[in-house]
Amino acid sequence: MTLDEKLGQLFQSRAGSEAPTGPETRKPFDDLISEIRAGRVGSLLSPHGAAHTNALQRIAVNESRLHIPLLIANDIIHGYRTIYPVPLAEAATWRPEIAQADARMAAAESRAEGTHWVYAPMVDVCRDPRWGRMVETSGEDPFLGAVMAAAKVHGFQGPDLARPDAVMACAKHFVAYGFPEGGRDYGTVDMSLETLHEGPLRPFLAAARGRGPGAVGSIMTSFNEINGVPASGNTYTLRQVLRESWGWNGVVVSDWESVREMIPHGFAADERDAARLGLRAGVDVEMTSRTYREHAASLLQSGDINAGMIDAAVRRVLEAKERLGLFERPYTDESLAAGVVLSPAHRDQARESARRSFVLLKNGREGHDEVLPLPLRAGSLDTPRRLALIGSLADDARATMGTWAGFGQAEDVTTIAAALDKEAGFSVIPVRGSGVGKSAARDLAEVREAAGESDIIVAVVGENEEMNGEGHSRADVTIPAAQVAMLRAAREAADRSDRRTPRRADGVARTPLIVLVMTGRPLALTNIMDLADAVLVIWHPGTEGGPAVADTLMGRSNASGRLPVSFPRTAGQVPVHYDHKSTGRPHKAGERYVNGYLDESNEPLFPFGFGLSYTTFRYGPPKTSGGLSTNGQLEVSMDVTNTGVLAGATVAQLYFQDPIASRTRPVRQLLAFEALDLRPQETRTVSWTIAAEQLAFYSAAPGGPDEGWVVEPGEIRLFAGGDSSAAAMTSIQVIGPRRTHVPAPSP
Ligand code: GLC
Repeated sequence: MTLDEKLGQLFQSRAGSEAPTGPETRKPFDDLISEIRAGRVGSLLSPHGAAHTNALQRIAVNESRLHIPLLIANDIIHGYRTIYPVPLAEAATWRPEIAQADARMAAAESRAEGTHWVYAPMVDVCRDPRWGRMVETSGEDPFLGAVMAAAKVHGFQGPDLARPDAVMACAKHFVAYGFPEGGRDYGTVDMSLETLHEGPLRPFLAAARGRGPGAVGSIMTSFNEINGVPASGNTYTLRQVLRESWGWNGVVVSDWESVREMIPHGFAADERDAARLGLRAGVDVEMTSRTYREHAASLLQSGDINAGMIDAAVRRVLEAKERLGLFERPYTDESLAAGVVLSPAHRDQARESARRSFVLLKNGREGHDEVLPLPLRAGSLDTPRRLALIGSLADDARATMGTWAGFGQAEDVTTIAAALDKEAGFSVIPVRGSGVGKSAARDLAEVREAAGESDIIVAVVGENEEMNGEGHSRADVTIPAAQVAMLRAAREAADRSDRRTPRRADGVARTPLIVLVMTGRPLALTNIMDLADAVLVIWHPGTEGGPAVADTLMGRSNASGRLPVSFPRTAGQVPVHYDHKSTGRPHKAGERYVNGYLDESNEPLFPFGFGLSYTTFRYGPPKTSGGLSTNGQLEVSMDVTNTGVLAGATVAQLYFQDPIASRTRPVRQLLAFEALDLRPQETRTVSWTIAAEQLAFYSAAPGGPDEGWVVEPGEIRLFAGGDSSAAAMTSIQVIGPRRTHVPAPSP
């Protein structure tokens, strides 16, 4: 290979995704074709469609000197054409098998349409609801994030990358991108190495270790700096941790122009310097910026980089193409897509995934007069019940799919309005009311009229697909004022109306106002909780979101999601997360000189792991098989009982605290969990085998004898329950020497 051809393999072009359709698009397209012919581009971002990608592939394979096939990459974050719930919603299922199935089906559609490489899973950990990309994460907990990361990598890659339904996954964004200053995207990240390993790095380690035959095939760097060193030039994270400590040998790709962006970071003097820093740190493929192609030759000449760095990177790219089977079979079978894309099985999975992701935050006032599921609480269905459906998000297909919706099409989506319209026994009065913009007074008049003459009001509030995602951070994470005005108008009109729902045992008749929260982040719902009789978080539920909502409102499915992230009372609390430290002056109500606020509680509105159901559950205390040696294992179990009259699902959650250690530890850390479906009155005993390393913490002292994961002897408290406020506790003793080095915890 010539140097030019080697550098070609390390360059990814943002190719036009449409076939050349006219002079205005031909120029860049023609440049691209000549670049492919010359072997000066090794992968393309965004082309899609089997025929179109095959046409590009034929140029590379037939017309370039070395006939090296192209890698075709796309951002398939939660679905290719069938769109699954956003990743934060998948995490809310607490069922890795669901996230894996979503990824598996997204992979099948992607590969059938000519995509070999997907830029997912996004595995950033995030505790800041202001950050727009929380929607793409698995939330605030590194362990839940690690479990989801491993499951999705396995879903995308499957047992063999060469299969026609497999794609190479890409864990991103490496690393700590989810901890930006001020919650502003691309913001500065500064954290201890201990926190880096125990938090943001943990899901990457799970992805890099992989399950079954495959570690993740690629990792994407992030835009942010980490402690003064931009991620794309960070030899500690990219070489010392990823390559040397973890032994991972996949492809590192820059996020967009993050190699070149080391100049505005103030870390690289110019593009030549940026190329030097990127290559030395070990970024293999440069996405869209061309610093490698323009400057590698001169860097080799000056000795700033050596040929081995280039060759190692090229080798990794070619090995990825080999594993994907592209040398033997570079073309996509164009007959595949018709039977795979938007198939009934994929739609069914999208509906099930959405159903399992919904989190019920409130159902009735003071918990005794539930309003959901509808048929059971809205009197008989023999007379159609008038249902006012308010809020433009109810009929917004794009918002229902959410951000990063791949190649999903609005016409594929069944919205909430369309789904409820089909429900027998209801006559739906759709009122656009307030969307995400200002609510016109006219809208409110319509809202009042519909609410006043209905038996049930369902309101959809929150965010559309442009209020979260990349570059969409928000300082104010409340429900938009216009939507609050809409809810208030509906509430007041309903209370004035003389059309009352059947009187209930308590004699209080109130038209139920059910609020559905469509969102890609935890919102501060404080100002709507009193207006609503029920609150269901539906995230951005995807192509089958409407039917999934109808299934849940009608009781065909019982809400079973649990929060993967704390919901704050106000943005002023941020970051508010369950795994906080105790401090020297832990908060005590009524005391002044303690860790707290004058004007707000320390506690979130809803804690990590929280979620209600149409039934109730009892969680037994944790039971253990005794003590634990620092290199041993421990059996822990807990009983969970469905104490209600309806079948339901919950998540048994086990937390731990290391109350005294050579570094302060969080008051709680998620240790294990299991999602359960339980019949009425059924009790299930859940048990886990806990290895000592799962209780470990990271000791930094880089390069010193002490660096690594360690377990110390002493008391460990175990908490079992249905969310992170679980109180049923038992203590165990860890026995062993002062400090034992252990492997990094898995997954
Ligand atoms: C974007 C995103 C990244 C995405 C890439 C390619 O800037 O940060 O997640 O995969 O560029 O579109």
